[in-house]
Amino acid sequence: MQTDKRLIDAAQRAGQHLADRDTPFIFDCWYVAGFSEDFDRTPRSRTVLGRSLVFYRTEAGEAVALSDRCVHRSFPLSRSRLDRDTIVCGYHGLRFDSRGQCIEVPSQAGNCPSGIGVRAYRLREQGPLIWIWMGDGEPAVDLPIGPWLGSEQWPGSNQYHYLPASYVSLHENLLDLTHLSFLHAGTFGTPDFAAAPYSLELDETKGNFKLVRTVSPTRLPRVWAEPLGLTGIESVRKTTSEFIAPSAHLVSGHFYALSDASNPPNTRIYTAHLPTPETATTTHYFIHHARNFATQDTHVTQFMHEQLSAAFIEDIEGLTALEKLVSMTPPSERFEISFSADRAAVAMRRWLKKTATGAKES
Ligand code: FES
Ligand SMILES: [Fe+2]
Repeated sequence: MQTDKRLIDAAQRAGQHLADRDTPFIFDCWYVAGFSEDFDRTPRSRTVLGRSLVFYRTEAGEAVALSDRCVHRSFPLSRSRLDRDTIVCGYHGLRFDSRGQCIEVPSQAGNCPSGIGVRAYRLREQGPLIWIWMGDGEPAVDLPIGPWLGSEQWPGSNQYHYLPASYVSLHENLLDLTHLSFLHAGTFGTPDFAAAPYSLELDETKGNFKLVRTVSPTRLPRVWAEPLGLTGIESVRKTTSEFIAPSAHLVSGHFYALSDASNPPNTRIYTAHLPTPETATTTHYFIHHARNFATQDTHVTQFMHEQLSAAFIEDIEGLTALEKLVSMTPPSERFEISFSADRAAVAMRRWLKKTATGAKES
């Protein structure tokens, strides 16, 4: 038995309007370049949206991002040395200031013709994160996620995973929580999650896609039940999954005892999933996980961190395998059959494609 040819044709036609690994990046957006502690007085390379960059901090602690390619003969500045706030190319010694301007050419008595330099990128620090603006236009005033992130009322922890898969697949994974019952059956999934009722708010003008799924009554998995004191208690599990920007997706958990349903406590668990494409098929996957209860309890922080790491590694392994399989499939044989639970993800991918290519709706 194979999928009906007419269904394959229809799926391929629909797929042309959806973002995938072949869709150009969206540059006009703040992306996470790293956690604050990733960058110091040692120049470090990181590729963001296919661009090789070098990161370092000035003596005053300000983070700097420059194009990694020296304009003379393309030596990586990340293999060069810092001299106070300047970076001195390790090949022939061109010196660049922290704005990327070349200020010295040793081979011509130190003189540097004007107008030579490497591109400098705008950075903004927010709590534990450093964001980078990759576009040519003026950076957006607001960062995608705010202002709770990094505040004392929201203690949490960070994770970084190198994901050998497209950032589009990761966003789709996050808007499609039916996979919890299967991919995460051994961690934070429960069998009742996939078929639970949900509501959608899809805004293809603003590029905001929200899915709220409520499972009730249910038993919470360990990662939520233990910190909230709900082990073995009939509970409500309400999860909001929201695509905010190409670089940001927020999952908000509201979990409470069924007996408190008429007046639930204001406890929330936030997980900011912050994918930054490295290349079309590799992604820097930053995660910041926080809560607004047990704010002084470091055991809760550690426990949730470990439990969630195990679950997110299941996503990473799944998406890695998926990416490998797609890359081995000839483009003419690629197709995806979607179901009603995929509506939010399909709308998000349609918006990504339209935004990336400037395509008109057809
Ligand atoms: S390649 Fe950098 S100075 Fe020559
Ligand atoms: Fe997952």
